[in-house]
Amino acid sequence: MISSTVRRQPRHSPDRRSISQTLVHGDRVMALNLGIIRPSRHSACVLVNIMTLRHDAAMPYTLTVNGRRRIADVEGDTPLLWVLRDTLDLPGTKFGCGIAQCGACTVHVDGEAVRACQTPVSGVGAGKITTIEGIGATPHGKRLQDAWVALDVPQCGYCQAGQIMSAAALLKATPKPSDAQIDDAMSGNLCRCATYLRIRRAIKQAAGVTA
Ligand code: FES
Ligand code: FES
Repeated sequence: MISSTVRRQPRHSPDRRSISQTLVHGDRVMALNLGIIRPSRHSACVLVNIMTLRHDAAMPYTLTVNGRRRIADVEGDTPLLWVLRDTLDLPGTKFGCGIAQCGACTVHVDGEAVRACQTPVSGVGAGKITTIEGIGATPHGKRLQDAWVALDVPQCGYCQAGQIMSAAALLKATPKPSDAQIDDAMSGNLCRCATYLRIRRAIKQAAGVTA
């Protein structure tokens, strides 16, 4: 498919025309710009510029999400966050900053907390993905969710899925964390409602740590 526009400059400027075409060929979208300048009646110069605007290369990725095999037909550089939310209909994982700075998008890959906004789907490989929709099926995930409810941790709630996922990764690695270990593990998860003290208390309650 080709679409084009032709423009001509005003009469008093050197004779100059430009032709812009958009070329769609298979999964490629390209822009072709032709500039024709005629400083005099006997000379002309042609400027050509071609650039690829988009190269869609969607392919099926087989993912294991919350114990289920799922297929996502997406481009390889699609962030895991958008695959989960838009393709696999798992909207519990939230978009906050998009640059791995707030923790709202935290999920687990093979039990490790990762930022889904900065994880391309092609990088997940055979890793087992767990999201907030599935973490309650694990013992420490269930204890954390129970503690979150018992202590009424959320305020607006937006950051809390990411908070629980980071807390679950912490308890998996360190079942009885100290305050300092909790603060360190949770330092990448921001809460604009400042629920940090309740989060720490809930993690300690889930871990059975009383001090
Ligand atoms: S949205 Fe991923 S870290 Fe903020
Ligand atoms: S509860 Fe509102 S951002 Fe954390």
